[in-house]
Amino acid sequence: MVRYNFPEYKLELDIPEEVYFPAEDTFFLIRNLHLNENIKSVYEIGGGSGIISIFLAKNFEKASFLVSDISLTATKMIQSNCKLNEVDSQIDVICMDKLNAIRYLSPDVIIWNPPYLPEDTETKKLPIADKLMLTGGKRGYEEIYDLIIYLQSSKVNTSLYTIFSSIAWDEDNFEEISEKGVHLEIIKELKLFFEKLYLVRFDFGEYDG
Ligand SMILES: C[S@@+](CC[C@H](N)C(=O)[O-])C[C@H]1O[C@@H](n2cnc3c(N)ncnc32)[C@H](O)[C@@H]1O
Repeated sequence: MVRYNFPEYKLELDIPEEVYFPAEDTFFLIRNLHLNENIKSVYEIGGGSGIISIFLAKNFEKASFLVSDISLTATKMIQSNCKLNEVDSQIDVICMDKLNAIRYLSPDVIIWNPPYLPEDTETKKLPIADKLMLTGGKRGYEEIYDLIIYLQSSKVNTSLYTIFSSIAWDEDNFEEISEKGVHLEIIKELKLFFEKLYLVRFDFGEYDG
């Protein structure tokens, strides 16, 4: 395991090979996430190394965080990286599928930089840990759509910030989800060499942004 320094974010993180190394999508999300300064409760799904919530915890000292990851290795790293960056009193970490172990949801905001690539013949050959980091189902976005349907049915007042890739998703796919009565907005787009990333916000319940 190697310790990495992220000077722009004033963080140090231990990241083993089996845990997602922060990449363009991670930084795109962090840079464009403009949260209300009075925010109290943030849930992050798929925390990976913990970079997003650790960075936010340092900048929103009054907020509390609940971070999940389906990978036990990632969950343990998030915990130890929280201690390393002295934000462990603000962040609870749970190994679970999305938010499925939480009975009553009450976050102001939910964040997920999800696995968003489609399963294909190449990604099918990947080890399971890599698949969990990269692929979100046959079409690439089933995992995140599952979460959206779940949040809508749970009647929680919250917003979900997440990322889609043009490799799997385009603006026509909006209809599929907006037909279900979910409000969504593209916050930012990022053109990369081989794909475009979309940062999208979904609003649920009576959340007024
Ligand atoms: C693209 S990585 C993002 C990691 C980190 N948040 C970042 O931005 O650098 C996706 C993360 O989601 C986790 N993950 C995948 N499916 C999940 C699920 N159903 N529930 C919780 N976490 C999941 C993976 O283990 C991985 O850590």
